[in-house]
Amino acid sequence: MTNIVKQQYPRMTKLRSVTTDSHQSLDDKVMSFKPFDSNENYIKFLNFQYRLMAKVAPLYQSKQLISVFNDLTSRCRLDYLKQDLRDFKQSISTVENNELNALSLPAAIGWLYVIEGSKLGAAVLAKQVGKLDLSDEFGARFLAGPSNGRGSAWREFMKSVESVNLSEQEEETMLEGALNAFNFAHTCIDNGLEQA
Ligand code: HEM
Repeated sequence: MTNIVKQQYPRMTKLRSVTTDSHQSLDDKVMSFKPFDSNENYIKFLNFQYRLMAKVAPLYQSKQLISVFNDLTSRCRLDYLKQDLRDFKQSISTVENNELNALSLPAAIGWLYVIEGSKLGAAVLAKQVGKLDLSDEFGARFLAGPSNGRGSAWREFMKSVESVNLSEQEEETMLEGALNAFNFAHTCIDNGLEQA
Protein backbone atom coordinates (compact mmCIF):
# COMPACT_ATOMS: atom_id res chain seq x y z
CA MET A 1 0.00 0.00 0.00
CA THR A 2 1.33 3.45 -0.87
CA ASN A 3 1.09 6.32 1.66
CA ILE A 4 -1.73 7.90 -0.33
CA VAL A 5 -3.71 4.66 -0.22
CA LYS A 6 -3.04 4.42 3.53
CA GLN A 7 -4.43 7.93 4.04
CA GLN A 8 -7.48 7.23 1.89
CA TYR A 9 -8.19 3.86 3.47
CA PRO A 10 -7.12 4.06 7.14
CA ARG A 11 -9.45 1.30 8.28
CA MET A 12 -8.32 -1.05 5.53
CA THR A 13 -4.73 -0.26 6.49
CA LYS A 14 -5.42 -1.34 10.07
CA LEU A 15 -7.14 -4.51 8.94
CA ARG A 16 -4.20 -5.36 6.79
CA SER A 17 -1.55 -4.59 9.38
CA VAL A 18 -3.11 -6.57 12.25
CA THR A 19 -3.60 -9.62 10.01
CA THR A 20 -0.34 -9.56 8.01
CA ASP A 21 1.41 -12.27 10.06
CA SER A 22 -1.59 -14.57 10.05
CA HIS A 23 -2.04 -14.08 6.30
CA GLN A 24 1.61 -14.81 5.60
CA SER A 25 1.63 -18.03 7.59
CA LEU A 26 -1.64 -19.13 5.95
CA ASP A 27 -0.20 -18.39 2.52
CA ASP A 28 2.95 -20.40 3.46
CA LYS A 29 0.88 -23.35 4.68
CA VAL A 30 -1.18 -23.45 1.49
CA MET A 31 1.82 -23.15 -0.82
CA SER A 32 3.92 -25.71 1.07
CA PHE A 33 1.08 -28.15 0.52
CA LYS A 34 1.59 -27.71 -3.26
CA PRO A 35 -2.09 -27.60 -4.24
CA PHE A 36 -1.38 -27.69 -7.96
CA ASP A 37 1.03 -30.64 -7.95
CA SER A 38 -1.66 -33.30 -8.31
CA ASN A 39 -5.43 -33.68 -8.50
CA GLU A 40 -5.32 -35.33 -5.09
CA ASN A 41 -3.71 -32.25 -3.51
CA TYR A 42 -5.99 -29.91 -5.41
CA ILE A 43 -9.13 -31.72 -4.20
CA LYS A 44 -7.98 -31.32 -0.58
CA PHE A 45 -7.33 -27.64 -1.26
CA LEU A 46 -10.84 -27.33 -2.77
CA ASN A 47 -12.32 -28.95 0.32
CA PHE A 48 -10.46 -26.46 2.49
CA GLN A 49 -11.86 -23.57 0.45
CA TYR A 50 -15.32 -25.10 0.57
CA ARG A 51 -15.31 -25.45 4.37
CA LEU A 52 -14.24 -21.83 4.68
CA MET A 53 -16.80 -20.51 2.21
CA ALA A 54 -19.66 -22.64 3.58
CA LYS A 55 -18.87 -21.27 7.03
CA VAL A 56 -19.13 -17.64 5.93
CA ALA A 57 -22.09 -18.11 3.54
CA PRO A 58 -24.59 -16.47 5.99
CA LEU A 59 -22.62 -13.21 5.74
CA TYR A 60 -23.51 -12.91 2.06
CA GLN A 61 -27.23 -13.03 2.96
CA SER A 62 -26.99 -10.71 5.95
CA LYS A 63 -29.32 -7.70 5.74
CA GLN A 64 -27.07 -5.54 7.90
CA LEU A 65 -24.09 -6.25 5.64
CA ILE A 66 -26.06 -5.83 2.41
CA SER A 67 -27.01 -2.34 3.59
CA VAL A 68 -23.27 -1.53 3.50
CA PHE A 69 -22.11 -3.70 0.56
CA ASN A 70 -25.03 -3.60 -1.85
CA ASP A 71 -23.62 -6.09 -4.38
CA LEU A 72 -22.86 -8.59 -1.62
CA THR A 73 -25.00 -11.55 -2.71
CA SER A 74 -23.28 -11.60 -6.12
CA ARG A 75 -19.87 -11.80 -4.42
CA CYS A 76 -20.48 -15.20 -2.79
CA ARG A 77 -18.41 -18.03 -4.29
CA LEU A 78 -20.05 -20.97 -2.52
CA ASP A 79 -22.01 -22.22 -5.54
CA TYR A 80 -18.87 -22.17 -7.69
CA LEU A 81 -17.04 -24.20 -5.09
CA LYS A 82 -19.84 -26.76 -4.90
CA GLN A 83 -19.73 -27.08 -8.68
CA ASP A 84 -15.92 -27.44 -8.62
CA LEU A 85 -16.25 -30.24 -6.05
CA ARG A 86 -18.91 -31.94 -8.17
CA ASP A 87 -16.55 -31.77 -11.19
CA PHE A 88 -14.30 -34.07 -9.17
CA LYS A 89 -17.25 -36.23 -8.02
CA GLN A 90 -16.77 -35.09 -4.43
CA SER A 91 -19.61 -35.16 -1.94
CA ILE A 92 -20.77 -31.84 -0.46
CA SER A 93 -20.68 -31.92 3.33
CA THR A 94 -22.81 -29.81 5.66
CA VAL A 95 -20.97 -27.09 7.57
CA GLU A 96 -22.38 -25.73 10.83
CA ASN A 97 -22.47 -21.95 10.37
CA ASN A 98 -25.27 -20.60 12.58
CA GLU A 99 -22.89 -18.62 14.77
CA LEU A 100 -22.01 -16.41 11.82
CA ASN A 101 -25.59 -15.08 11.86
CA ALA A 102 -25.02 -13.83 15.39
CA LEU A 103 -21.98 -11.63 14.61
CA SER A 104 -22.27 -7.91 15.24
CA LEU A 105 -21.89 -5.64 12.19
CA PRO A 106 -18.28 -4.66 13.00
CA ALA A 107 -17.21 -8.28 13.63
CA ALA A 108 -18.97 -9.38 10.42
CA ILE A 109 -17.09 -6.70 8.45
CA GLY A 110 -13.82 -8.10 9.81
CA TRP A 111 -14.75 -11.62 8.68
CA LEU A 112 -15.88 -10.36 5.29
CA TYR A 113 -12.58 -8.50 4.80
CA VAL A 114 -10.71 -11.81 5.08
CA ILE A 115 -12.92 -13.65 2.61
CA GLU A 116 -13.13 -10.84 0.06
CA GLY A 117 -9.38 -10.22 0.40
CA SER A 118 -8.68 -13.86 -0.36
CA LYS A 119 -9.87 -13.13 -3.91
CA LEU A 120 -6.66 -11.14 -4.41
CA GLY A 121 -4.66 -14.23 -3.52
CA ALA A 122 -6.95 -16.21 -5.84
CA ALA A 123 -5.56 -14.14 -8.73
CA VAL A 124 -2.11 -15.56 -7.96
CA LEU A 125 -3.44 -19.11 -7.70
CA ALA A 126 -5.56 -18.81 -10.85
CA LYS A 127 -2.34 -18.50 -12.86
CA GLN A 128 -1.42 -22.05 -11.88
CA VAL A 129 -4.65 -23.86 -12.73
CA GLY A 130 -3.41 -24.74 -16.23
CA LYS A 131 -0.94 -27.19 -14.65
CA LEU A 132 -3.84 -29.50 -13.85
CA ASP A 133 -5.99 -28.62 -16.88
CA LEU A 134 -8.42 -26.74 -14.67
CA SER A 135 -10.34 -23.65 -15.74
CA ASP A 136 -13.30 -21.46 -14.89
CA GLU A 137 -15.40 -24.17 -16.55
CA PHE A 138 -13.94 -27.16 -14.74
CA GLY A 139 -12.67 -27.50 -11.20
CA ALA A 140 -11.46 -23.93 -10.70
CA ARG A 141 -14.62 -21.84 -11.17
CA PHE A 142 -14.25 -20.30 -7.75
CA LEU A 143 -10.82 -18.83 -8.59
CA ALA A 144 -12.09 -16.80 -11.56
CA GLY A 145 -12.40 -13.03 -11.04
CA PRO A 146 -15.66 -11.08 -11.39
CA SER A 147 -16.63 -9.74 -14.83
CA ASN A 148 -15.92 -6.14 -13.77
CA GLY A 149 -12.36 -7.11 -12.72
CA ARG A 150 -10.83 -7.93 -9.35
CA GLY A 151 -9.26 -4.49 -8.90
CA SER A 152 -12.53 -2.67 -9.30
CA ALA A 153 -14.44 -5.07 -7.02
CA TRP A 154 -11.76 -4.69 -4.34
CA ARG A 155 -11.76 -0.88 -4.55
CA GLU A 156 -15.56 -0.82 -4.16
CA PHE A 157 -15.25 -3.12 -1.18
CA MET A 158 -12.58 -0.91 0.44
CA LYS A 159 -14.69 2.23 -0.04
CA SER A 160 -17.69 0.57 1.60
CA VAL A 161 -15.61 -0.57 4.58
CA GLU A 162 -14.40 3.01 5.09
CA SER A 163 -17.91 4.43 4.79
CA VAL A 164 -19.37 2.70 7.86
CA ASN A 165 -19.72 4.71 11.06
CA LEU A 166 -17.86 2.81 13.79
CA SER A 167 -16.76 3.84 17.28
CA GLU A 168 -13.21 3.06 18.39
CA GLN A 169 -14.53 0.09 20.33
CA GLU A 170 -16.43 -1.17 17.29
CA GLU A 171 -13.33 -0.82 15.18
CA GLU A 172 -11.52 -3.04 17.67
CA THR A 173 -14.34 -5.57 17.34
CA MET A 174 -13.94 -5.44 13.55
CA LEU A 175 -10.20 -6.16 13.85
CA GLU A 176 -10.93 -9.06 16.21
CA GLY A 177 -13.44 -10.38 13.68
CA ALA A 178 -10.74 -10.39 10.98
CA LEU A 179 -8.29 -12.20 13.28
CA ASN A 180 -10.96 -14.76 14.18
CA ALA A 181 -11.69 -15.38 10.51
CA PHE A 182 -7.99 -15.99 9.81
CA ASN A 183 -7.84 -18.31 12.84
CA PHE A 184 -10.78 -20.24 11.47
CA ALA A 185 -9.02 -20.56 8.08
CA HIS A 186 -5.90 -21.85 9.88
CA THR A 187 -7.99 -24.45 11.72
CA CYS A 188 -9.53 -25.62 8.44
CA ILE A 189 -6.08 -26.05 6.94
CA ASP A 190 -4.57 -27.70 10.01
CA ASN A 191 -7.42 -30.22 10.09
CA GLY A 192 -7.71 -30.78 6.38
CA LEU A 193 -4.42 -30.50 4.53
CA GLU A 194 -1.73 -32.97 5.55
CA GLN A 195 1.68 -31.94 4.32
CA ALA A 196 2.55 -33.31 0.87
C1 HEM B 1 -1.52 -19.59 -1.23
C2 HEM B 1 -2.49 -18.86 -0.90
C3 HEM B 1 -2.49 -17.37 -0.95
C4 HEM B 1 -1.70 -16.50 -1.64
C5 HEM B 1 -0.57 -16.83 -2.60
C6 HEM B 1 -2.14 -15.18 -1.32
C7 HEM B 1 -1.63 -14.04 -1.86
C8 HEM B 1 -2.16 -12.78 -1.73
C9 HEM B 1 -1.78 -11.62 -2.48
C10 HEM B 1 -0.72 -11.59 -3.57
C11 HEM B 1 -2.53 -10.60 -2.06
C12 HEM B 1 -2.51 -9.17 -2.61
C13 HEM B 1 -1.62 -8.31 -1.80
C14 HEM B 1 -1.57 -6.92 -2.35
O1 HEM B 1 -2.47 -6.52 -3.10
O2 HEM B 1 -0.61 -6.22 -2.07
C15 HEM B 1 -3.39 -11.11 -1.02
C16 HEM B 1 -4.28 -10.35 -0.32
C17 HEM B 1 -5.10 -10.86 0.66
N1 HEM B 1 -5.28 -12.18 0.99
FE1 HEM B 1 -4.17 -13.70 0.35
N2 HEM B 1 -3.17 -15.26 -0.44
C18 HEM B 1 -3.42 -16.58 -0.22
C19 HEM B 1 -4.40 -17.12 0.58
C20 HEM B 1 -5.27 -16.38 1.30
C21 HEM B 1 -6.30 -16.94 2.13
C22 HEM B 1 -6.59 -18.46 2.28
C23 HEM B 1 -6.93 -15.89 2.73
C24 HEM B 1 -8.08 -15.86 3.68
C25 HEM B 1 -8.76 -16.88 4.06
C26 HEM B 1 -6.30 -14.67 2.25
C27 HEM B 1 -6.66 -13.40 2.61
C28 HEM B 1 -6.18 -12.24 2.03
C29 HEM B 1 -6.60 -10.90 2.38
C30 HEM B 1 -7.59 -10.51 3.46
C31 HEM B 1 -5.93 -10.03 1.51
C32 HEM B 1 -6.10 -8.51 1.43
C33 HEM B 1 -4.90 -7.82 2.06
C34 HEM B 1 -5.08 -6.30 1.97
O3 HEM B 1 -5.73 -5.74 2.86
O4 HEM B 1 -4.60 -5.72 1.02
N3 HEM B 1 -5.30 -15.01 1.38
N4 HEM B 1 -3.16 -12.44 -0.85
